[in-house]
Amino acid sequence: MDMKEEMALQIRDLKSHFFTSKGVVPAVDGVSIDVPPGRIIGLVGESGCGKSMTAMSVMGLLRHPGKIVGGTILLEGRDITHLSKRERSKVRGNEISMIFQEPMTSLNPVYPVGRQVQEAILLHQKVTKEEAKQRVIDIFKEVGIPEPEKRYYSYPHQLSGGLRQRVMIGMAMVCRPKVMIADEPTTALDVTIEAQILRLMKRLRDELGTSIILITHNMGVVAEVCDYVYVMYAGNVMEQAETFELFERTEHPYTQGLLKSIPKLDGKEDRLYTIEGVVPNLLHLPKGCNFCNRCDQTVEKCFVEKPELYETREGHKVRCFRYEGGVKA
Ligand SMILES: Nc1ncnc2c1ncn2[C@@H]1O[C@H](COP(=O)(O)OP(=O)(O)OP(=O)(O)O)[C@@H](O)[C@H]1O
Ligand SMILES: [Mg+2]
Repeated sequence: MDMKEEMALQIRDLKSHFFTSKGVVPAVDGVSIDVPPGRIIGLVGESGCGKSMTAMSVMGLLRHPGKIVGGTILLEGRDITHLSKRERSKVRGNEISMIFQEPMTSLNPVYPVGRQVQEAILLHQKVTKEEAKQRVIDIFKEVGIPEPEKRYYSYPHQLSGGLRQRVMIGMAMVCRPKVMIADEPTTALDVTIEAQILRLMKRLRDELGTSIILITHNMGVVAEVCDYVYVMYAGNVMEQAETFELFERTEHPYTQGLLKSIPKLDGKEDRLYTIEGVVPNLLHLPKGCNFCNRCDQTVEKCFVEKPELYETREGHKVRCFRYEGGVKA
């Protein structure tokens, strides 16, 4: 990946914490992500590691008691970390858009889907209602919704899960955003539909040059569509690399564990491998590496200090003391 090209989105040392009555929860704790134009970036990790909160921070949608307490978010070089509500609403849905983890909650059940997408257009673009409607039908065609004129009038419950997800993607794409964040867009879908949605994302990347952050805990999905991957654990990025490199030379013990948990294609393994131990409570993180309590490759230092991200090869970074200085100890 050419690091000199301007990034569509740059997240720099982002810290988003939750100020609860029990203490401060560092849900996102120093996350940096580079999203080049026209690439799909995977964000993976177990439940609760901070994937959605990273996305919500970028979208300016963190809710109380959550707050961005550090770092910067740059959209094509422009700082959007602390925008006013008004400036925010101009950016959101227009320059950067998001598909949420629960698709049913983001569509209004009492309005036809076409009208909902039409409203999204009217919110951001100076076009007539008629023009906006035509635009919706074009978008529906683009995202592979059959009989778009008819589907315009359908209510969310009249559509299959796959079609609903296409409507959501259409809605996210209407204003041709530079960056789209898709949070678990295929988790609720069966594998055939999942494959179609993933193909659609690749098409948006290739034909429109859209940059996509794809949030998933499915390593198979990552292998299928992502150009570059970030692996998160307890609010930190533990490993990052181009997809091929990450699978070929998996370095972090946590990533190794995640990859072992992919079911074997030959179906010989009847049980998924799970990484031993539980995800640490973010209120009581270990003094050393956040993963030290579950790691099978620790050295003494892991329990007393927090590792940084060490670069082991160009574009490949690992947060693990075994790679301090860039080489495996
Ligand atoms: N309202 C809240 N109050 C306190 N802590 C919160 C709140 N919302 C989220 N968190 C903390 O943020 C952490 C990260 O949550 P996030 O939703 O980003 O996880 P995720 O990686 O998206 O998980 P999943 O795969 O289940 O969607 C959680 O583990 C939780 O500790
Ligand atoms: Mg989530």
